[in-house]
Amino acid sequence: MSSNFGTLFRVSTFGESHCKAVGVVIDGCPPGLQLEESDIQKQLDRRRPGQSKLTTDRQEKDQVSILSGTEHGITLGSPIGLKVNNLDQRPGDYGDMETIPRPSHADYTYMAKYGIKASSGGGRSSARETIGTVSSGAVADKILRQKYGIEIIAWVSAVGPFEAGPVDQTNITRTQVDETDLRCPDLDISEQMRSLVLELKEAGDSTGGVVSCVIRNVPAGLGEPVYEKLEAKLAQAMLAIPATKGFEIGSGFAGTRLRGSEHNDPFVLKEARLGTTSNNSGGIQGGISNGEFIHFRVAFKPPATISQPQQTTNYQGESVILQAKGRHDPCVVPRAVPIVESMAALVLVDMALRQEARRALNLL
Ligand SMILES: Cc1cc2nc3c(=O)[nH]c(=O)nc-3n(C[C@H](O)[C@H](O)[C@H](O)COP(=O)(O)O)c2cc1C
Repeated sequence: MSSNFGTLFRVSTFGESHCKAVGVVIDGCPPGLQLEESDIQKQLDRRRPGQSKLTTDRQEKDQVSILSGTEHGITLGSPIGLKVNNLDQRPGDYGDMETIPRPSHADYTYMAKYGIKASSGGGRSSARETIGTVSSGAVADKILRQKYGIEIIAWVSAVGPFEAGPVDQTNITRTQVDETDLRCPDLDISEQMRSLVLELKEAGDSTGGVVSCVIRNVPAGLGEPVYEKLEAKLAQAMLAIPATKGFEIGSGFAGTRLRGSEHNDPFVLKEARLGTTSNNSGGIQGGISNGEFIHFRVAFKPPATISQPQQTTNYQGESVILQAKGRHDPCVVPRAVPIVESMAALVLVDMALRQEARRALNLL
């Protein structure tokens, strides 16, 4: 199993859905950074279950503890251990699922690979794992904001058939995104998305959606061609989030319908650097940031665990009806917003440290 991410800013997450605690060890965080639990808690509160009617009813406070790596609120350069206790465990909710793999969840593949799986919930495949991602991502985010002024803002841009209108990428803030529990800044369409999610929750069904993200103030030069191109790392990071089914950067799939003459981003002098007048590239060319906004979208499928009866087959191959119990998200995108921001922060901080290391050694 691979639970590590990053080269210089390395994170190693741990925990299953119903074990005692979940968390992360961060190795390679620079010393001298002011870091308190409150820096991390803000993003965890945006991710936690039970935060609104739109999410699973599992009640978790998700209070983070810093176990190591800081003294008097300052990082020491040593490994930072972050832990969140699992409180609202109800392993009994998963009775049927011990013998029946949930369609489109990870039960069957975990069993096929390891020959054993956590008996309740998704184990390691559960979104509880993303607590480690979000906790370490909050630390990365703080470094990026303080050192480079980099801002990472994600929002819900689609739920089922409803798509939000264009968002002002230059000015959108996390506060604006959080104005509604759906986290879609297009307030008209957000109401329709909200009704759909509530309707499906009531009906024991689920829906998918899209999270969009913009990253501002990224200096030109981040990214490690060829196999760790910036967009390749972002894609890997985003597709490591549970329930993701697609990643598009810049013009994405729609760009295939344009001509080169329409798609190219012409250069222009912007203050002391070359910028571009359009941004179909999504801020990355040749796998390296070009100084423009990085913008991308991530597709999330409808969560697999639905309480409607489903005709399926148990591990023995017998035809059965699965009526899943437990508390589940009818749509993951409102909670996925801080997860997308966190994975993006982990990618960028690592790329920035790698570029800094080169610069410090006069290798540029
Ligand atoms: C924030 C978040 C919450 C999730 N909540 C649920 C849930 O309540 N029920 C469920 O079946 N899947 C949920 N998922 C998705 C599963 O974890 C995921 O579908 C499963 O691990 C299988 O992996 P895959 O969909 O990436 O193939 C959630 C995902 C995220 C990002």
